[in-house]
Amino acid sequence: MGIDANARLAGLEKFRREKGLLLAIETSCDETAAAVLDAPRGVRSMSVHTQIPLHAQFGGVVPELASRSHVERLGPVVEDALQKAKCTFGDLSAVAVTCGPGLVGALLTGVSYAKGIAFAKGLPLVGVNHIEGHIAANYLSCPELEPPFVCLIASGGHSHIVLVEGYRKFFLIGKTRDDAAGEAFDKAARALGLPYPGGPALERLALDGDPNAYAFRSVLNEDESFDFSFSGIKTAVVNLLHTATQKGESVSRADIAASFQRAVVNALAEKSLRAALLSGHKKLALAGGVSANKALREAMRNRAEKAGVSFYCPDFRFCTDNAAMIGCAGYYALLANESSPLSLNASPALSLGDRSFL
Ligand code: KG4
Ligand code: ZN
Repeated sequence: MGIDANARLAGLEKFRREKGLLLAIETSCDETAAAVLDAPRGVRSMSVHTQIPLHAQFGGVVPELASRSHVERLGPVVEDALQKAKCTFGDLSAVAVTCGPGLVGALLTGVSYAKGIAFAKGLPLVGVNHIEGHIAANYLSCPELEPPFVCLIASGGHSHIVLVEGYRKFFLIGKTRDDAAGEAFDKAARALGLPYPGGPALERLALDGDPNAYAFRSVLNEDESFDFSFSGIKTAVVNLLHTATQKGESVSRADIAASFQRAVVNALAEKSLRAALLSGHKKLALAGGVSANKALREAMRNRAEKAGVSFYCPDFRFCTDNAAMIGCAGYYALLANESSPLSLNASPALSLGDRSFL
């Protein structure tokens, strides 16, 4: 239990009784974010500082620069969130923070800051798994959504199909065996000469292209399993561009972008819908940064509708990294009597459902 056991139990009991204001912090990658919630699904305010311009010049996230920028920006971002919520540190009842997975230095910034506030104000603290936060983004946008349901999480680091059995209970059905969907978008975009982050840029370029121009295929994506593979599709794009350059042939970059996007979207939509049907719950949700992709949202919505499955996805502001989704997951954790000790540490490789940090 540790030295803070009494304070921890008393604070948690008080929070569950009074259901007060929760401050949430997210610093796992390249967004410094804070939010204030007054209920699990009640976002009072949110503030996000993106480091995209900082990393764009290097074509990807530079971990050391990310950590330094979090250190500089986290204080002002938290103050901005408090101001927008019209409250002060003294009004808070709990603190939630992303403790993994992510970049270790980036995570440590948020975890240390959150521990400092929790200690100084005697508040309950809860570590939140970033992936579980992405899933919770759906609760913020879809008031009617409750577990159980199947959720596809497609982000820069993960491509998971998860059975959400309860607010705090998850079962991993399938995942990528190599690149995550967002990572494949970013790498294919880079090969196409697009700026970081590649996903949104590739989506824009694909609007002018023919999605049937090239057949980028992966055997694994067409088999019966629920696992994905995106590195072969990405490599096919790189090779196509390379060969064309060597032969001096001109290719339509828009056609390549549209065909690549179609291949990734089809694999994600097909397998996640099959999982939703097999689960018997007939509810399918989408989460993670790639959930901002309109082609993916539309493909999943259309297929789900045809199959009689309800489809859910977060508002755009909750798709990419933000602290409101972390607050939602953290709020549910605290209401379920879960909290973390002040010895909470960053867990860069944290798996879904791992509760060792509580
Ligand atoms: O969830 P997220 O913000 O950070 C991680 O947890 O990784 O996801 C970022 C990823 C990046 O790979 C980015 O390129 C991708 O999400 N992404 C998109 C779109 N918007 C963001 N991919 C495709 N289409 C988009 N519109
Ligand atoms: Zn994320």
